[in-house]
Amino acid sequence: LFRLRKLCMFCDVKPSVCNSSGICTSRCNITSICAGDDEICAAAWRRDGENVTVETVCHPPSEPFHGVMPDNYNATECVMKQYRHLGPDVYICFCIEDECNDQLVFTPRTSSEPPSPPMALLVLVPFVVLALVLVSFMYVCKVYTLRPSKLKCNSGQERSVLIGQLGRSDSISNHLNHNTELLPIQLDGIVGKGRFSQVFRARLGQRMGENEAFQMVAVKIFHLEEFLSWKGEREIFLDAELHHENVLHFLTAEERPAERQYWIITAYHQRGNLRDYLRAHRVNWASLCRMGGDVARGVAHLHGDRTETGGVKAAMAHRDLKSDNVLVKDDLSCCICDFGLSVRLDSDMSKDELANQGQVGTVRYMAPEVLESRLNLENIESFKQADVYSMALVLWEITSRCTAAGDVWEYEPPFGKLDHPCIESMKDTVIRDRERPEIHSSWRTHPGVAAVCEMMVECWDQDPEARLTAHCVTERFDELVRSSFICDSEKKLNTD
Ligand code: ADE
Repeated sequence: LFRLRKLCMFCDVKPSVCNSSGICTSRCNITSICAGDDEICAAAWRRDGENVTVETVCHPPSEPFHGVMPDNYNATECVMKQYRHLGPDVYICFCIEDECNDQLVFTPRTSSEPPSPPMALLVLVPFVVLALVLVSFMYVCKVYTLRPSKLKCNSGQERSVLIGQLGRSDSISNHLNHNTELLPIQLDGIVGKGRFSQVFRARLGQRMGENEAFQMVAVKIFHLEEFLSWKGEREIFLDAELHHENVLHFLTAEERPAERQYWIITAYHQRGNLRDYLRAHRVNWASLCRMGGDVARGVAHLHGDRTETGGVKAAMAHRDLKSDNVLVKDDLSCCICDFGLSVRLDSDMSKDELANQGQVGTVRYMAPEVLESRLNLENIESFKQADVYSMALVLWEITSRCTAAGDVWEYEPPFGKLDHPCIESMKDTVIRDRERPEIHSSWRTHPGVAAVCEMMVECWDQDPEARLTAHCVTERFDELVRSSFICDSEKKLNTD
């Protein structure tokens, strides 16, 4: 029988912007499989003058951590505590759930005496009851109107399920961050080809005594001469706090000198990319909302400068959004992948450097201002606006395969009449003729699909400033899901 080892954030000591209040994320991008069978997760927050650091590790519970014997470490949350001998500028926590040391829960220090229990109860009970009713109502609405009940909608859960699956059959210790030793990976077939790399399905294996087991992962392989592309993508994953259920989950990056290769190892999604999925499947209204909403949520997460829990992250632009760069997960949710052309929008790249790589992406999906090389490089919003244009074309692709509004044709890419278009023919189509993918009149007969069409139109506006933000699109999808457009017959996600 496999004994499950803990998965903990493991960044050792890292500078942090946490102050010692509320709930703060570790901003550690590295999940590690703990070395010892019984190890737990631990974190320490320390302030030294202006400098704040957060340390995240796996830790054996029988040993002291900074002179503190782990106590109460069966906790599912990492509740930060102060210890007299460490002084006021150190907080420590222990916990036992996978990755529980990612969220540092600082116990708020109340300045006034707490109200007496009966009084507190009197005040709190009505609020608690109201909150419970509200939460249950929202839960029932969300689960029973759109998703089959077995789907998890909480992003935190989703993430630990994904890594949890990896950990479940995995006995290798701390490779995911301290990767001086390479992961025991056996490449299977090729599943994708990029500009500078190839993606393989692979088995991440391990030996546990007599037993062997493996977990599927995806390995993106760059050859020696593509070092800069590997480095760029690796840095995007490492720097930008990309953990999100709608962004491909990164496991680690490795140098493989023996093979003269560089690898990026991520979660593997057997359904493959959205374009292939749409070619082979039609989607119903619930799936359109789910997939469209997921794409928008993924893009909004990249564009934003906050994590879901309110931490700080680098805003990024993807710059190559297309249905090939969206993966379909087992539960038909979607995540964005391929950050090979992505840029951090807070980077100190000069205008010239940006200009040099101004016209990147896939021609078919390029926004008019990118086709014309007229992106306003002074303004980071321009990069997001160009992404939103490309995202609109992906929304159109999903909608074009939706059964909710009548007849559905074979899958065609946006501007499908153009075969391998070059920049000039795309410019003629998108700028000179102001063409956009066709919205069939039947699509507008379904009020929900009509609203999605309205969103697309607002996202592919010729004027970049007039486009919706990805965040706004997520809100509109949320609203659509909440609203009454969902008929009984369409409550289930489909696998048509
Ligand atoms: N194609 C590219 N990346 C992939 C992944 N992570 N899983 C499945 N197919 C892919």
